[in-house]
Amino acid sequence: MNTIIVGLQWGDEGKGKIVDYLTEGADIVVRGQGGNNAGHTVIAKGVRYILNLLPSGIIWDGKINIIGNGVVVDPSGLVAEIERNEALGVSVTPHKLLISDRAHVVFPFHKELDAAREIALGDQKIGTTKRGIGPTYSDKVNRCGIRIADLLDEEFTREQVTRRLVEVNEILAKYDLPQFTADAVLKEIYTAFARLRPHVTNTIPVLYAAWKAGKSILFEGAQGTLLDIDYGTYPFVTSSNTTSGGSCTGSGLPPNAIGRVIGVCKAYTTRVGSGPFPTVDEGLSEYLHGLGREFGVVSGRPRGCGWLDTVLLRFACMVNGVTGLAVTNVDGLDEYETLQICTSYDIDGTIHTLPPADRKAWDRAVPVYETLPGWKSDTTACTEFSQLPAQAKAYLARLSELCGAPIAFVGVGPDRVQTLVV
Ligand code: GDP
Ligand code: IMO
Ligand code: MG
Repeated sequence: MNTIIVGLQWGDEGKGKIVDYLTEGADIVVRGQGGNNAGHTVIAKGVRYILNLLPSGIIWDGKINIIGNGVVVDPSGLVAEIERNEALGVSVTPHKLLISDRAHVVFPFHKELDAAREIALGDQKIGTTKRGIGPTYSDKVNRCGIRIADLLDEEFTREQVTRRLVEVNEILAKYDLPQFTADAVLKEIYTAFARLRPHVTNTIPVLYAAWKAGKSILFEGAQGTLLDIDYGTYPFVTSSNTTSGGSCTGSGLPPNAIGRVIGVCKAYTTRVGSGPFPTVDEGLSEYLHGLGREFGVVSGRPRGCGWLDTVLLRFACMVNGVTGLAVTNVDGLDEYETLQICTSYDIDGTIHTLPPADRKAWDRAVPVYETLPGWKSDTTACTEFSQLPAQAKAYLARLSELCGAPIAFVGVGPDRVQTLVV
């Protein structure tokens, strides 16, 4: 069966861990959107792997990993990531990793344009990862992007880069940011591309043939539903469709190839970067940071933490077509006396059970909470769902009821083995 793994909150829900867990029974793992703004953590057999662009299946032997057409690829970033993981014993061969020839390329100047845009926004900045994601997707939609297939023709790429740099350098000059020459850009790109070239192929027929042969394909979502360019807290979002539909447009496999959609969420809520976060809670943030938890994998920034928000989750289950929930980090709440679940927002006296579209309404959204008793015991050693304390089961049952989706997996620790199947 083909499965989409999608984030239901603002990213960092634990997608990497769930993808890794499900990879054992899969043949292929595919990324369909985003770039190396993603940071997916997998902990297995005592080793901690961080995957940004590489699908998390890369750490398994004998699995094919595909970077699909909807992804934006930073060549030097990807080579550094490959080398970092090779040093941990991961093999990255052309047989194991395929890169779509239709994927767009993140150039060094896209990262500087990302920085320029943030400077221009001032106190309204998005708090991006500065990986050039927005500018690369802008160029794609603006029809002036450069794709992996274009890199195969160096002269053509030189012409395109030279043309693009005229406008780019003008923008960068305004913000006192470094200027680029075509020579320097091409040198960086082609040094990295030499390593990547054997991996480049038309990935669409590969996936189509795998589907028709009844292979099991996993789609690894990046970011989360509330960072989706359409469904998220616009403009404080990323620049791709992070929701389940993005897996199809980003890979070339059609919707009828998909068997199930696993939505990943934490047992609480976190967010890194700017933008609305109604259930944020200083006490919970301090508590989790004190445990050494909830620091960003990509930027090291502390993530804001807050109570579980089922307004977001209900919406996320709708737009993704979630068939099962994976609730991670349940153990993060182990010590808490009482827990809050947000069931709706009060916006100017009106109750909302779905997120508003109006960006100003977010600032006036007051969470309406339900209080549940905590379980006050260590869940990290549980190996079966049935071993969870009764209060933890009740918390999860209420979460499921409020979101309208059944629970399929529960995470009680960062390790591969700390995953409970329901
Ligand atoms: P992703 O971007 O969705 O893959 O998530 P990240 O890896 O950025 O962040 C999730 C963090 O939670 C990582 O540090 C994981 O190791 C960790 N994690 C995932 N599931 C669990 C869990 O059930 N319990 C605990 N304690 N940590 C978890
Ligand atoms: P994973 O896949 C959490 C956030 C950034 C910023 C906004 C836009 O690990 O869940 P961008 O660089 O994409 O233009 O930044 O999106 N963001 C993430 N937050 N997890 C991620 O990925 C994220 N990728 C982007 O912090 O608020
Ligand atoms: Mg992450």
